Amino acid sequence: MIVARRPLRGAFLFASSLAALACSRTSADANAKADSTKVAAAAAASTVHADSVWRAPFGTAPDGTPVEVFTLTNKNGVETRILSYGGIIQSLKTPDRSGNVDDVVLGFDDLAGYVKSSPYFGAIVGRYGNRIARGRFTLDGKTYTLAINNPPNSLHGGVKGFDKVVWHAEPFKSDSGVGVVLTHTSPDGDEGFPGTLNAKVSYTLDDSNQIVIHYEATTDKATPVNLTNHTYWNLAGDGKRDILGHVLAIPASAIIPVDSTLIPTGEMMKVAGTPFDFREPTPIGARIDSNHIQLKYGRGYDHTWVIDRADQTGLVRAAHLREPTTGRTLDIYTTEPGVQFYTGNFLDGSVVGKSGHVYKYRYGLALETHHFPDSPNQPKFPSVILRPGQVYKTTTVFKLGAVH
Ligand code: GLA
Repeated sequence: MIVARRPLRGAFLFASSLAALACSRTSADANAKADSTKVAAAAAASTVHADSVWRAPFGTAPDGTPVEVFTLTNKNGVETRILSYGGIIQSLKTPDRSGNVDDVVLGFDDLAGYVKSSPYFGAIVGRYGNRIARGRFTLDGKTYTLAINNPPNSLHGGVKGFDKVVWHAEPFKSDSGVGVVLTHTSPDGDEGFPGTLNAKVSYTLDDSNQIVIHYEATTDKATPVNLTNHTYWNLAGDGKRDILGHVLAIPASAIIPVDSTLIPTGEMMKVAGTPFDFREPTPIGARIDSNHIQLKYGRGYDHTWVIDRADQTGLVRAAHLREPTTGRTLDIYTTEPGVQFYTGNFLDGSVVGKSGHVYKYRYGLALETHHFPDSPNQPKFPSVILRPGQVYKTTTVFKLGAVH
């Protein structure tokens, strides 16, 4: 059903049916599906785009909870689909330099794909994005134990992290765009973490082709929090080819070097003179197989870059990505101190994704904005501890474009 639709330059598409369709979220699945189909067909037949958000069923989670998909469209025809399961960006369609639209994120066509086994395609990751060494940390004198789901460490929030829960989801329309706001209460002791954590994540698509992600959380006991989104990008188009030809820039003078289990050593490593220097735009494949111990440990790039901020607070650019054959670009801005650049080194062709695409080695890349890995055990890193009375608030922006 349509939840919100704004007339564009006098074209009052579906305006008369708005009131009837905008009201209830309890319509039967069949109705929602019919509405979705109707809107999609009408939109396809029209040359005028309007920004809209509509919801439809997307199957049922293993615990019986219904899952929905929210389709956000802007006036330029950029369209993204967000799932209430895992807050997953399931698809993102955007034009190339000639106006050809393609889906630029990896994922699955149906919920079963995500439930069966997904390497966090498009998902919100929490409570703790990235690794915590040996699944242990000590906070205020008490030691907490987490699942070792990436031996010998804990990865991305544990066995059932925020990528595998069904979030409560409500669509919205505001002056800044159309979106969906997701909320989830993670109980005290969830996956071993202390405190009841109330998390809220909103996705907004605006008419500048930006997806703005706001993360928020509060707690009733001190706990580590490090939320991120784990979209796998391929600006050539989902499943088309590997990402080695993408040209990347990351304004960072240092990375966080890791040991062979991808846990930080606690130091910073200057990128100057190494294959990790992306301060000038460089093809990802140019140096990825260099003889550098950090590339051996990561099986490619799988590291946190420490974003150069000087004295800037707030949003700064974390990455610029360009795919030369299509001209598509992605700019990422964040309030976070780091960005994990991961080149899909664990993709091995065993995952069959959307439209039967086989996701082979390095067919997608992730740029996960967050705090540094293993921060609860690293006294030199900025704190990730959220305490009662504080509000965790971070923002990351994905801005899509195309250049000639
Ligand atoms: C993150 C990690 C990688 C890998 C992927 C998921 O990006 O840094 O090592 O675990 O998630 O496969």
